[in-house]
This record gives sequence, C-alpha cells and structure tokens, in this order.
Amino acid sequence: MVLFSMKMKTTASLSRSIALFLSTAMTIATSRALSQHTPKPRILITGANSGIGLALTKQLVSDHGCHVYLGSRNEERGRLAVEEVKAHAGHSVELLPIDVSSVESVRSAAACLGEKIGDEKLYAIVNNAGTGFSHGTSPKEILDTNTRGPRRVVDNFMPFLNQSGGRIVNVGSGGGPKFLEQFTSDEDKIRFLNAMSEEEIELELAKIEAAGDAGDAYRGSKALLACYSMDLAEKYPNLLISTITPGM
Ligand SMILES: NC(=O)c1ccc[n+]([C@@H]2O[C@H](COP(=O)([O-])OP(=O)(O)OC[C@H]3O[C@@H](n4cnc5c(N)ncnc54)[C@H](OP(=O)(O)O)[C@@H]3O)[C@@H](O)[C@H]2O)c1
Repeated sequence: MVLFSMKMKTTASLSRSIALFLSTAMTIATSRALSQHTPKPRILITGANSGIGLALTKQLVSDHGCHVYLGSRNEERGRLAVEEVKAHAGHSVELLPIDVSSVESVRSAAACLGEKIGDEKLYAIVNNAGTGFSHGTSPKEILDTNTRGPRRVVDNFMPFLNQSGGRIVNVGSGGGPKFLEQFTSDEDKIRFLNAMSEEEIELELAKIEAAGDAGDAYRGSKALLACYSMDLAEKYPNLLISTITPGM
C-alpha cells in the first residue's frame, strides 16, 4: 500500500520516472553488455515487495530486459511479490530478503547476492525502501531506514556494482527540499544543498532525532539522503549517482 503524500499518482506512473531514468543509460549498458556477451543488466531494488519498488520491478523486467533482485524485509510478502512479477512481467526476478535498517540483515543479504550473482556485476542499486510518519514509524526508525539504510546497502553491495558506469539511484522525496524551508540563514540552506560527510550527516540526524517530530524526520531523512548522494558522487566519479523524486 502506498502511504505517502502523492496518492493521486499511480505507483506505475511514479515508478515509470525511475525506469525511464535508468533506461537512458541502460541503452548504453545493454549494448556494452551484448558486445561483451554478458547477460541482462542486473538490478537490486530495496523495498520492492509493494508500491513503487514493485511497479518498477515489473517495468524493468517486462520493458527493459533486466534481471531484478527484489529486496523485501518480509520473506512472505517478498515471495508473493515475486509470484506477481512472474505472473505479469516475466521470470527474470529473484527474492533477496533485506531489512535496510539492520546491519546484520544487509550483510547477510550481500552474502546471499554474492552466491547468486557469481562473476556477474550489478548494473544498478535502487535504494527505494522507505518509511514515513504515515506508516506510524518513530523518528529513529525513519532516519535509520531512509538515510542510514541506503548507506548500509551501498557499503555492503559496492563490491558487486559495475565500477565503470554502474548506477546508484536513491529514492528521495519532495519533502527533502521542504525541510530547508525551516532555515532562516542561507548558510544552513547551502549546507543542505551540498555533499556532507558521514560524520556531518550523523550530527544532523542526532539533532532531528532529538527534536522527536516524525514529519520533520521524514523530510530531514530525504534532505540528508540527497547530501549523501552528492558525497558519494564526489567519491565515485566513475559511477552515476542520483537522488530522484518519484513523479517529478
Ligand atoms: N508514493 C509517493 O508518492 C512517494 C513520494 C515521494 C517519495 N516516495 C518514496 O518512494 C519510496 C517507495 O515508497 P512507496 O510509496 O512505494 O511506499 P510503500 O508502498 O509503503 O513501500 C515502501 C517499501 O519499503 C519497504 N520498507 C520499509 N522499511 C524497510 C526496511 N527497514 N527495510 C527494507 N524495506 C523496508 C516496505 O516493506 P514492508 O512491506 O515490509 O513495509 C515497502 O516494500 C520511499 O522511499 C518513499 O519515501 C514515495
């Protein structure tokens, strides 16, 4: 169930913007892949058992010839989602149990992917798993899932990502820019429009968690996700790293 603010848009149309985004560079990747006799582009999507993640999985499998590792923290919901993809989009999909808020779960998911993928590489990682105030989650859970979750995933899955032109797509939100509206000084706004180190992000997360407001935590988690993406992009110039807002 989609519980975020843009309910008027269907998950299919929201996910289409991400699929389009991935497919532009995928054209190049696929032609490279074909010339190197490698199989379909492989993509990991977290939180893919419902909503945008599930719709994106179907589009990538059926329309873009991809093989998707469907991330789901709940194995039963994940299995049902894999069945749904197979029934409506195609068979190039595998379940990958992963709770992005747990270090142990992310590590064991990476080990599991290592066994599945063998010598192949991931074409892209889509950090889609997210939670917000409308899910009834606490500020700590929101920050741990939406901001620290993508970092855990990237830290553990980076060895599997194609280091030459691989992509990381972090699913942000229009709530991110809204978070900046609270600041009166340009200096604060500018800080949030630039790359931040892990330490700087942790300082901001601690302030947001201490304030205890779930709405602010959601908006702040997505603003900091963009700062994290910019930091990653500076560190990995050979990768394509972006934060996208569904529907925009
Ligand atoms: N829909 C919109 O209009 C909109 C707008 C802006 C941004 N977004 C962003 O788009 C992304 C997808 O949202 P959606 O609308 O598709 O929501 P959704 O239907 O509620 O899907 C969220 C997905 O994330 C998973 N998830 C939550 N916490 C997790 C964790 N700790 N580990 C792994 N998976 C976890 C959920 O799994 P469970 O089934 O186990 O809960 C679910 O599969 C989110 O990042 C959201 O912030 C959505």
